[in-house]
Amino acid sequence: MSNNLNCRVRSMLASDLEQVLEWRNHSEIRHYMYTQHKITLDEHINWYKKASNSPERYLLIFEINNIPTGFININKIKNSNIADWGFYVAPDSEKGTGKMLGITVLNYAFKVIKLHKICGQALSYNVPSAKFHTSLGFTQEGLLRDQHFDGQSYNDVAHFGLLANEWKISENKL
Ligand SMILES: CC(C)(COP(=O)(O)OP(=O)(O)OC[C@H]1O[C@@H](n2cnc3c(N)ncnc32)[C@H](O)[C@@H]1OP(=O)(O)O)[C@@H](O)C(=O)NCCC(=O)NCCS
Repeated sequence: MSNNLNCRVRSMLASDLEQVLEWRNHSEIRHYMYTQHKITLDEHINWYKKASNSPERYLLIFEINNIPTGFININKIKNSNIADWGFYVAPDSEKGTGKMLGITVLNYAFKVIKLHKICGQALSYNVPSAKFHTSLGFTQEGLLRDQHFDGQSYNDVAHFGLLANEWKISENKL
């Protein structure tokens, strides 16, 4: 993918709701989420009303050349500069889109929000997410056994962490 692309993140708006719901309900995304049922528009709107009013949360849209291409949820632990993140790229995006989203969001998280640490969690069968995290410089800090029940079986959950000073080093190598 060309390096001349204009990548940025911006706050999610109510006008993004339908697009984000379409991505979130796509089978290739749902399969890797903790809640895997098809989310209704009402459920989605209620989630947005609550989440967008929380001072600890950043609901973000990733854009390439002004085209919405992914969603990111950064959730700060109260009274700290540590946050969890969740994300997905628009299904059928070109290879390399995730990496661009990761770099853009981590720059925002460490340089604009000024986080000290960002944490990711992935179901153990989510190989793309594990590779995505490690290729951005995250360390796998733990593997919680049988931590998630999907209605049929239990799955392990891998925990990843990246510190602000590690991002400075990692960013220069990407
Ligand atoms: C995880 C996700 C953001 C990665 O985005 P992407 O555009 O597919 O990733 P990229 O093509 O930029 O690749 C980024 C890294 O992930 C790896 N990767 C991507 N798809 C992969 C796959 N299917 N299998 C194994 N590794 C994969 C790449 O090898 C690359 O690592 P590298 O730079 O060391 O080669 C994307 O697949 C996604 O949205 N998945 C569904 C939602 C999800 O799982 N979110 C995370 C929940 S924890």
